[in-house]
Amino acid sequence: MKLREANGDMSPAIIDRNLTLELVRVTERAAIAAAGWRGKGDEKAADHAAVEAMRSELQNVSINGRIVIGEGERDEAPMLFIGEEVGNRSGAEVDIAVDPLEGTTLCAKNQPDSICVLAMAERGGLLNAPDVYMHKIAVGPGYAPGIVDLDRSSLENVQAVADAKGVPIHEITACVLDRPRHAQLIEQLRATGIAVKLISDGDIAGIIHATNTEETGIDIYLGSGGAPEGVLAAAALRCTGGQMQGRLILDTDDKRDRARRMGITDPNRKYAANELASGDVLFAATGVTDGSLLQGVRLSKTSIRTQTIVMRSWSQTIRMITADHRR
Ligand code: FBP
Repeated sequence: MKLREANGDMSPAIIDRNLTLELVRVTERAAIAAAGWRGKGDEKAADHAAVEAMRSELQNVSINGRIVIGEGERDEAPMLFIGEEVGNRSGAEVDIAVDPLEGTTLCAKNQPDSICVLAMAERGGLLNAPDVYMHKIAVGPGYAPGIVDLDRSSLENVQAVADAKGVPIHEITACVLDRPRHAQLIEQLRATGIAVKLISDGDIAGIIHATNTEETGIDIYLGSGGAPEGVLAAAALRCTGGQMQGRLILDTDDKRDRARRMGITDPNRKYAANELASGDVLFAATGVTDGSLLQGVRLSKTSIRTQTIVMRSWSQTIRMITADHRR
């Protein structure tokens, strides 16, 4: 039995598997463009370079693609706006979520884990999430279904993970975005002896790390971050296995209205990973700056080296692709 079936994931393969390589080309090109802006202190320019490169490369991909998570709504984003059609119109109808430069500040400061990210799903497979915050929780594969739940307290969730691992709670490491809004959470976790791995940005990588405990030592991801990043992280998690839940934070009338316009009828709904990113899903990310997930873009006199992780939910194949591009 395939791992995904053991995880209760019975989605058939719909998307042509060769598209995985096409996605790699897209995130590679965005990363190379953004790399020119590493450490230059200009987040906007870095993001713009990644967006332009990603959009231009996407036009070569054999898909009838539609952006569902992008740079914003049509009137606020000139490129990769929600609803924009991408691809060369010769292939399958797919939905696309992009974060052309995840961790713009990380790139501008040349700090670890800035990445270019793209996910593809069969039409209708990705939640059309507005650009609001989302409560998130994630753990890696191998736990009983429902081991973590956003309706339980963070401490209850961490305790459940510790019990399932058969270790005392002080041996658990939780990854949390370092934000004032998480001060109480961090304090509570530390008060019980839990090790907190704080990240300054980039919760897609944070969630991927939490699903790869053996390599990273991180057992659980907790806290709130961007909802679009939540959908992209769910797409990754569908490929790696593991469990995740997300709940949009729609705490004003304006946010609830925006969500309603995007088709979200229940503002309090708790989404599982396979509701944020359902069916057949592909995910690719290329490193811009060196990080614990990926190596950043390396420039030499004659070539440019990129490193990309590309994954497919149907096969749960995870490929690391190192490419040398002639200058
Ligand atoms: P950007 O690349 O858009 O700067 O996002 C980085 C990020 O850290 C995300 O990974 C995370 O989901 C979000 O920002 C958190 O938002 P905030 O910085 O407002 O807490």
